[in-house]
Amino acid sequence: MRKITIAIDGYSSTGKSTVAKQLADWLEYVYIDTGAMYRAVTLYALEHNFISKEKFDKEGLIKSLSEIQLDFRKKSPTHKAEIFLNQQNVEDKIRTLHVSEFVSPVATISEVRKKLVEQQQKMGSEKGVVMDGRDIGTVVLPNADLKIFMNASAKERAKRRYQELVERGEKVTYDDVLKNVEERDRIDTTRKDSPLQKATDAIEIDNSEMNLEDQFHIILQLAKDRIAGRV
Ligand code: DC
Repeated sequence: MRKITIAIDGYSSTGKSTVAKQLADWLEYVYIDTGAMYRAVTLYALEHNFISKEKFDKEGLIKSLSEIQLDFRKKSPTHKAEIFLNQQNVEDKIRTLHVSEFVSPVATISEVRKKLVEQQQKMGSEKGVVMDGRDIGTVVLPNADLKIFMNASAKERAKRRYQELVERGEKVTYDDVLKNVEERDRIDTTRKDSPLQKATDAIEIDNSEMNLEDQFHIILQLAKDRIAGRV
């Protein structure tokens, strides 16, 4: 079967990664979670005191970028690849609300974006890839064969994210999660470098009222049509 490249962009907590993983498993493609890369850089910035509630030493972080090495490793052929920051598995550490609170400002830095986009373009250079993020269809893989843009109301997204964090044992309030979702939307859509926007040739899917199964089947059908060259 002909292999294609699939770009999935959209607002935070729209379930991009869930559907991207499902698609990659079904099609036996490689899945690349680019948000994890921005989160790992943010974790590095927090651990090295470049960023905190009081300060943001952008220049210091930019100077240290060459010290940051990221890679994805699979535990076994059936498992999703996990992200490693300087040889350390940080897959769990990057998913906290604390990292979420600082990731959008870090993602505004052009030098950070340039470094990560280069690595993403290398990883996406072969067909048979599903990549999710904010700028995949517009900047990273502008020639992707299928582009999806996911959306849902901020309240619905905050509800989903809140449930996820509580299930993982984090002590958070729904209001804090909603504030974080809205703040990230604001920063992600208004930043100068590669703001979150729908590529002109992307198909928009609002999943506020959709369950995971329906959503997966709609997107899988779109992928199958593209693979078959029907649309
Ligand atoms: O998908 P996520 O919520 O894990 O992404 C975390 C943050 O990283 C998000 O708020 C914006 C940034 N990001 C980005 O700027 N570009 C990408 N391709 C992916 C994520």
